[in-house]
Amino acid sequence: TRFSRITGTGSYLPPRRVTNADLAADLAQRGIETSDDWIVERTGIRARHFAADGVNSSDLAFEAARHALEAAGRNASDIDLIIVATSTPDMVFPSTACILQNKLGIAGCPAFDVQAVCSGFVYALTVADAMIRTGSASKALVVGSEVFSRILDFNDRTTCVLFGDGAGAVVLEASDTPGLLASDLHADGKHVGILCVPGTVSGGNVLGDPLLKMDGQAVFKLAIGVLESAARATLEKAGRTDADIDWLIPHQANIRIMQGTAKKLKLPLDKLVVTVDQHGNTSAASIPLALDAAVRGGRIRQGDTLMLEGVGGGFTWGAVLLDF
Ligand code: ACO
Repeated sequence: TRFSRITGTGSYLPPRRVTNADLAADLAQRGIETSDDWIVERTGIRARHFAADGVNSSDLAFEAARHALEAAGRNASDIDLIIVATSTPDMVFPSTACILQNKLGIAGCPAFDVQAVCSGFVYALTVADAMIRTGSASKALVVGSEVFSRILDFNDRTTCVLFGDGAGAVVLEASDTPGLLASDLHADGKHVGILCVPGTVSGGNVLGDPLLKMDGQAVFKLAIGVLESAARATLEKAGRTDADIDWLIPHQANIRIMQGTAKKLKLPLDKLVVTVDQHGNTSAASIPLALDAAVRGGRIRQGDTLMLEGVGGGFTWGAVLLDF
């Protein structure tokens, strides 16, 4: 049998770091009141990074991909599949994956985007794993990259304090031993309205509102339940238990959701990888960013069992269990 295994991780944050105090000062100029205390207490976020004007998801993806390739000891020319998870693509089309492919100086391999908002990375990893298992690919680049700052409404304090920009990437290769153990993906489109960017382009104009709208409490309530059920489903499929998880790497949206999930899985909080404090919510980029931070920080080691979990607009959710 053929399996897939992560052989390298990489990430990239745009250099401009904005603390809660910086953001509160900016918002105060618009007559909007927020504070470091409010943001930290409700979300755990202390800072986020924002990309400079003209820097797009493909630029962040390129830097993250370079680092992942280097870690895997591979050249871009070795890659035979590119999947980018993003909800903030450079263009309506072509895909950010095609733009990234060109920036990497390669051509010919399939390249496409996956759009599942904050679940995008677990969706993309699952698709890449399936393509590797069936022999359609053998060395995939799987990237999550976002410039959420472009779709934030800086007149809405309930959302603009939550998100940031960044990218994370992995090289996923065919292997005789597993790697990716199990995955569990879901969507429920009846919840479109609780988290969306409702605008689109039509007739040369933007039709509808192109900024992020979120009913935070509705998202919060849904998130904890579905994250637990997806995690349990992957464990069951893989014949493993809670006790086998070395590291929980959930989508980094809100520390309270993350800690709630860890508790439901009976995991001590020191097994929870946390970057939300420094990155904010970077949507599809948050899981590979957190993964890379924990790998480079020496916490995650080869052989560790990782539970990756995403939840986001759609509503979409899912989990991937893997041996690193
Ligand atoms: N600064 C100061 N006050 C604020 C701010 C702010 N930035 N934002 C809201 N408030 C005020 C509200 O106006 C409200 O005031 P009121 O009581 O006078 O009306 C008060 O704070 C409480 O607001 P709530 O919305 O009840 O705050 P809550 O405790 O629910 O926290 C939050 C809001 C952080 C958004 C929370 O609901 C949450 O984290 N939800 C999940 C969101 C999430 O994780 N989304 C992403 C997952 S999917 C994805 O990543 C795309």
